[in-house]
Amino acid sequence: NLPKKVTIIEVGPRDGLQNEKLLVPTEIKKQFISSLRSAGLQEMELTSFVSPKWVPQMGDAAEITTDCLDDKTRNIVLAPNRRGVDRIFSTDCQAVAVFVGVSNSFNLKNINKSTGDSLAELKPVIRELKLNNYFVRACISTAFYCPYEGKISPKDTLELCHEFVHAGVDELSVADTIGMAAPNESYSLFSQLKAEFPQTLLTAHFHDTRKLALANILAALQAGIDRFDTSAGGLGGCPFAPGAAGNAATEDVVYMLERMGIATGVDLDKLMAAIDVVIPYLSRKIETGYYRLHAQT
Ligand code: HMG
Ligand code: MG
Repeated sequence: NLPKKVTIIEVGPRDGLQNEKLLVPTEIKKQFISSLRSAGLQEMELTSFVSPKWVPQMGDAAEITTDCLDDKTRNIVLAPNRRGVDRIFSTDCQAVAVFVGVSNSFNLKNINKSTGDSLAELKPVIRELKLNNYFVRACISTAFYCPYEGKISPKDTLELCHEFVHAGVDELSVADTIGMAAPNESYSLFSQLKAEFPQTLLTAHFHDTRKLALANILAALQAGIDRFDTSAGGLGGCPFAPGAAGNAATEDVVYMLERMGIATGVDLDKLMAAIDVVIPYLSRKIETGYYRLHAQT
């Protein structure tokens, strides 16, 4: 009983690049974004409004946002706090993702605040965004495992999700930050999320550290999830989560789903061309199965 089509949320320009040590030129990021869009990616995380001292790669967030907005597709920008959202208010972006970790230890490393303090800061910010008709998504990190605390109780994840749904978010993106979940855990958590939050858009965000992202996506699909965060080339990783490798690769997820008869709207040849835009500027090789085949031809 699988869906006939799914939505891919491309996170390459944000999650994909944030962990790259060398600064990718802003012009290249803009070309990357526009070529990803040409490949059919209708929802995309463009950048994130964080401290440039903490994440220098995102130091051009304002310019990227101003120059890459597009009124036919959903352009999401991230912020961890009030200061980030205030910076977003001075752009024309209409979709904001806030982020927080279920694990308190992870949240302290990532945002320098306890999970409770982040939540308390973000709740009124979310209400304000909703009053001003923004699309709001909440990215829930360490929903399965934490690099510092180990296994996270699904009960804690569901409780934090409740807080964000109650505050008014449109979407929850629930993340396996360090790629440690197994498919049975993916199926179980996403089944519970589906049952608890029938009115909220639910998205699965898997990192591929242990090569289980595709299996976890399939399990989430079987639990009724039809939205997936993926990154072109499998780029990605959180600088404050040791062991967080890249995201599920857009090309591998698209290939799998299309072969299953599930439409994604993504053109794989054009996606390969988008990856080629950014490759010369990266410190890592692209090792996804689909890209390797493309590179040989
Ligand atoms: P802090 O040092 O505690 O901040 O950092 P502060 O409140 O003490 O302020 C210090 C300075 O930073 C001040 O400037 C603030 O204005 C400024 P100064 O007065 O010294 O000139 N500042 C900011 N500047 C720009 N944008 C802001 C901002 N906030 C304060 N938003 C802070 C706290 C949150 C800023 C810092 O910890 C930070 O930037 N963290 C970001 C971490 C990050 O980007 N992580 C990766 C994204 S999350 C992720 O990848 C997970 C996800 O993919 C899902 C998953 O896979 O799990 C979403
Ligand atoms: Mg991530």
